[in-house]
Amino acid sequence: MTMMKTLKMTAMAVGLGAAPAMAADVEVLHWWTSGGEAAALNVLKEDLAGQGIGWQDMPVAGGGGTQAMTVLRARVTSGNAPTAVQMLGFDITDWAKEGALANLNPIAEEGNWDEVIPAALQKFATHDGQWVSAPVNVHSTNWVWANKAIMDELGLEEPQSWDDFVAALEAAEAAGYTALAHGGQAWQEATFFDAVVLSVGGPEFYQASMIDLDPEALGSDQMKEVFDRMGTLRGFVDDNFSGRDWNLATAMVINKEAAFQLMGDWAKGEFLNAGKVPGEDFLCFRFPGSQDQVTFNSDQFAMFSQGDGVSDEQAALAKAIMSPEFQIAFNKVKGSVPARTDLDASALDACGQRAYEDFKAAAASGNLYGSMGHGHANPAAVKNAMYDVITAHFNGEYDSETAVDELVTAVEISQ
Ligand code: GAL
Repeated sequence: MTMMKTLKMTAMAVGLGAAPAMAADVEVLHWWTSGGEAAALNVLKEDLAGQGIGWQDMPVAGGGGTQAMTVLRARVTSGNAPTAVQMLGFDITDWAKEGALANLNPIAEEGNWDEVIPAALQKFATHDGQWVSAPVNVHSTNWVWANKAIMDELGLEEPQSWDDFVAALEAAEAAGYTALAHGGQAWQEATFFDAVVLSVGGPEFYQASMIDLDPEALGSDQMKEVFDRMGTLRGFVDDNFSGRDWNLATAMVINKEAAFQLMGDWAKGEFLNAGKVPGEDFLCFRFPGSQDQVTFNSDQFAMFSQGDGVSDEQAALAKAIMSPEFQIAFNKVKGSVPARTDLDASALDACGQRAYEDFKAAAASGNLYGSMGHGHANPAAVKNAMYDVITAHFNGEYDSETAVDELVTAVEISQ
């Protein structure tokens, strides 16, 4: 091992005091630590390695990025911002408002980003006329993942309505399976919530409550029904759900221990990484009652200003992320679809092609909604306040009526 490598590893081992990025390295803070996520990240690492750019890895485990954002704040506060950071939606806007992000306009102009990135993503990737991040993908959160062998064994069809879905969960439970594989972490429950809000009140209700934060919608009878349904779902998870990581819940579906999981399409990356085939070993369908809508989130890489302009490594990373070949190669592994809308989708698998078409159709018909659970509906302060109420209810601290009242108050005071 070289002296420099030893020094870097020692610095990494002491956490926040990571070694400063070397001339031709990018230091990337991210939360892609599951098997499927790591495999996708490798596509990016290899792309950069091919250009002679080194990669200093700064992984902070924890789906949805909550922990990563806490570590980021500490790093920036101690004057040691990473070169590039995986970020979601309103977090990007928050950092851009603080003036912390590098201006990527020269690279964006050269790559024609204005034309190839849809407005729904530009809303977060730009601030005050400047590109501040490079979107690598589009995920969506309102999916159900199913073990096909269990569905076949129980004679279950793809559920079309909430009642159908509850019947399928009951059948799986009666047959001795864990009906719903779940990890009890706030962001995972918030992921359920995205889909349940849509299924109860449709897109208008989602818009009013999750995006416009309308107190009437937040305090409505429909919201009580949302919490009632969350309670019903809670009844189908196993006893050991608390704190379980999302990918371990996916593994329960992969291993035929559990019938279903409600999770964004990064779950597909786990199935693929385990050698499973969509349509044969597992099925994906929209959460019943939200078939025409797409709640989306987009992983983007924001570059932290390191002095004047964008460094060569940052420019190379941004360009690599936006290249058409990379967007296809990466998203095939990750379970997401490309952030660019000008690509030939035939290279994606069946689930991916369906998701790419869904995404483009939803964007065109106005059925694309930012995911609350993944930072695309409202700013982090509001999102975290919602998380607290949703999780407290899920864990039995509030009944549905109290949860509705708490939600109204939490949203009001967090703005
Ligand atoms: C999401 C992110 C995905 C996936 C997931 C679980 O917020 O957009 O890329 O990594 O968290 O970690």
